[in-house]
Amino acid sequence: MLHDPNRVYVFDTTLRDGEQVPGCQLTTPEKIEIAHELEALGVDIIEAGFPISSPGDFQSVVEISKAVKNPTVCALTRAIKGDIDVAVEALKYARRPRIHTGIGSSDMHIKNKFNSTREEILIRAVEAVKYAKKFVEDIEFYAEDAGRADIHFLAKMIEAVIAAGATVVNIPDTNGYCLPDQYGEKIKFLKENVKNIDKAVISVHCHNDLGLATANSVAGLQNGARQIEGTINGIGERAGNTSIEEVVMILKTHQNLGLHTNINTKNFYELSQMVSTQMRMPVQPNKAIVGSNAFAHSSGIHQDGFLKNRENYEIIRPEDVGFPNASIVLTARSGRHALKFHLERLGYNLSKEELANAYHRFLTLADSKLDITDEDLLILAGDKKFA
Ligand code: KIV
Ligand code: ZN
Repeated sequence: MLHDPNRVYVFDTTLRDGEQVPGCQLTTPEKIEIAHELEALGVDIIEAGFPISSPGDFQSVVEISKAVKNPTVCALTRAIKGDIDVAVEALKYARRPRIHTGIGSSDMHIKNKFNSTREEILIRAVEAVKYAKKFVEDIEFYAEDAGRADIHFLAKMIEAVIAAGATVVNIPDTNGYCLPDQYGEKIKFLKENVKNIDKAVISVHCHNDLGLATANSVAGLQNGARQIEGTINGIGERAGNTSIEEVVMILKTHQNLGLHTNINTKNFYELSQMVSTQMRMPVQPNKAIVGSNAFAHSSGIHQDGFLKNRENYEIIRPEDVGFPNASIVLTARSGRHALKFHLERLGYNLSKEELANAYHRFLTLADSKLDITDEDLLILAGDKKFA
C-alpha cells in the first residue's frame, strides 16, 4: 500500500502525560477501560505509561498491551538502559510495541537538569536509541524542551537519532513556550535541514502553558509534522497538553489543509465524559468541542440567527462529535424567537400578541432566576393572565 503523505497519526498520552496530573491517577482496570475506548476512537498509538516509574504503571502497560489489538502501544523511558529494559519487559504482549525514549535538548535542561554538555547529551541520546532498537523496531525519540532548544543543535540531535534507528522524532514544546509561527518554523527547519528526515515521522507534542498547545500543534502539522500527541480534554502537566479532539476537529473543519486522521469523531463526547469522571477532572463548560456549552446558544441575536439557519452560528455539527444536541438556552438575554421555539417544542402555538405578552413576563422571570426550565415555561404558558 502506498504511504499517504497527508495522513496524520494520532498519539494519545491521556494515560501517561494526562495521568501525571495530581488527583487523576487511575487503577489498571480503569486504564484498560479507557484504552478500549481510545481504540474505538481510532487513535493510532496509545502511550500506556512509564513502566520504570512504579509497579502499577508497569502492570498497566502489560495489561493494556494485552487488551488492545489495533493501536501501537507505547511505553515511555528516559535515555537510560534500565528504563528501556523495564519498558521492553512491560511491552512483551503488545502486538505493535513502541519505545518512547529521549533526553533534554535545550541548554537550559542540558546544564540545569543534566549538568552536562551538548556533546555528552548527544552521545546519550544515540546510545539510548541504539539500545532500544535491539529489542523493538519502532522507536520514538523525544527531544525534551525542544521548544527552547537551539535549532542547529536540535537538528544535529534529530539527524543522529534517526541514523541510530529512530522511526519517529518527537519535538516537544515541553513548557508551552513557543508561539505558533516559531514552533511551525522549527518543524520546517528540521524538515528542510535534517538530511535523513524522510526516514522518520515528525511528531508534535505541545503543552498549554500559554494556551497555545492546539495552535502550535496545528502549525507543526502545517509545516510537515505527521503525528500529533495529545490527551482527551487536554488534561496533562500544569496547564495541560494539546486536546486531541480540538486538533482532529480543526483538520476536519479546515479540509483545505489537506490533512486527515483515522479518528471516529462521533466518539469524542462520550470518551470525554468517561475521562472526566474517572479522573475526577471536570471539563470546563466552555471547553471547545466537548464542553457543556460548546453547542449552547444563549444570546437573542445568536438564537435568532441559529433558528433561521443553524450554520449561522454552528461550524461543527454536535452529532459529529457525539454531543447530545445543540441547545437554545433561555436567559434574560434571549429573544422572542427563542421563547417561541421552546413553547412550540412544548406544544404551545401562540398568536403574536400572546407571544408578546408571554415574552414580557418571561423577561421578568429570567431576571430573577438563573435557569429557566420546561416547568417554568409550562407555568408561563398555562397562566390565566397569559391566555
Ligand atoms: O512534555 C514532554 O516533553 C514530554 C516528554 C516526556 C515526551 O512529555
Ligand atoms: Zn509532555
